[in-house]
Amino acid sequence: MTDSNDDITKPKRIRKTRYVPNLAAAQFKPTEDWTVSEAGNEHRKARFPFKVDRILYEDCIEGMRKLPSESVDMVVADPPFGLDFTGKESIYNRDYRLVRDGYKEVQGDYQQFSERWICELPRIMKKTSSAWIFSGWTNLGDVLNAVRKSGLTLINHIIWKYQFGVFTTKKFVTSHYHILFLVKSREYYFNKIMHYPLDVWEINRTYRVGEQKNSTKLPEELIIRCIDFTTRPGHLVLDPFMGNGTTAVAAKGTFRHYLGFELNKTMRDVIDANVGSVRLGQFYIPYVERPDELVLRARRRFRIGNGEELSQQRMATWI
Ligand SMILES: C[S@@+](CC[C@H](N)C(=O)[O-])C[C@H]1O[C@@H](n2cnc3c(N)ncnc32)[C@H](O)[C@@H]1O
Repeated sequence: MTDSNDDITKPKRIRKTRYVPNLAAAQFKPTEDWTVSEAGNEHRKARFPFKVDRILYEDCIEGMRKLPSESVDMVVADPPFGLDFTGKESIYNRDYRLVRDGYKEVQGDYQQFSERWICELPRIMKKTSSAWIFSGWTNLGDVLNAVRKSGLTLINHIIWKYQFGVFTTKKFVTSHYHILFLVKSREYYFNKIMHYPLDVWEINRTYRVGEQKNSTKLPEELIIRCIDFTTRPGHLVLDPFMGNGTTAVAAKGTFRHYLGFELNKTMRDVIDANVGSVRLGQFYIPYVERPDELVLRARRRFRIGNGEELSQQRMATWI
C-alpha cells in the first residue's frame, strides 16, 4: 500500500467496456438528489437529541464537550488565525467603519489550541460525518499536526483561490486558503454532485455595499459547496467558530440544520440579521438542474438533454 488514504477512496470498479471520451461526463448523475419539496420534507422530518438551529455564545471547546457522541453530520471550522490580527486590517476596497470589533484571537500556543479543539471532533462526529477545516498557510503545520493527533483521516487538501487579500508592500498578496476535508471512518458520506470535482476552488469573496461584518467572513458559496458534497438535506452542520454566521446562513438556505459556537457576543445582532435575511431553502437547487460545464459540453456532443438517458442504440454509434 502506498498511502493509507488509498484504502478509503480506491474505486472498486474495473472497466469492462471500451473508453469513450466524454461518455461518462454525458451520462453523469449525482449519487443522490432531491426535489425542492423532498429536500424540505427531509429538513422538517429531522430530529435531534438537543435544540438545533441556534448559536451558543460560549467557548467551542467547552460547548463541544457537552454534545452527545455521534451527534453531528458535518463540521465546518474556520478557527481564529493565531496571527497578530484584529479583524480590522485594511483589505482592498473595504470601508473599515463597517468592520465589527471583538474578533477573539487565540491566547497562547496555536498548536495546543488546535489540538484541543480538533481532538473534540471525532467523538461528536458520526461514522458518516466529515469535517472541513479552513486554515491560512502560516499556521497550517500546527493544524495538520493536530489533525494527525485527532485520528481523523485527510481525504483531500483543497485550495480555495479568492480574488483579493490583505494589501502588502514588500511581499506577494496572499490570495489562497487551505481547506482540509477530513473523515472519521471509511463509511463517510460523499455525494458526487460533479463529474470531475477538482481540488482547487475559485470562489470570490463577497462584498456588499454597506454590509457590517467581522472582516473574516467566508463566502456562503464556499460553505454551500462543502455542504452539498457531504450532507443530505435535514443533516446537522456544526460550526465551532461562527463569526458572521455564514455557516448558519448556508445551512438554512440549503435545507440543513445548524448549531454554532461563537465567543464574540458583539456579533450576535450581525449573526441574527444575516440568518434572518435568508429564507429556509432559498439557495437550494436540485443537482440535476445545475450540471457543470464539462457535463453540458459532453451532452451537447452526444446530443442528449437534461436527465435524458443515452439509448443503447445511440451509444452503439459512438463505441
Ligand atoms: C476566522 S473567524 C470565523 C469566520 C466565519 N467563518 C465567517 O464566515 O464569518 C473565527 C471566529 O472564531 C471566534 N472564536 C475565537 N475563539 C473561539 C472559541 N474558543 N470558541 C468559539 N469562538 C471562537 C472569533 O471571535 C471569530 O469570530
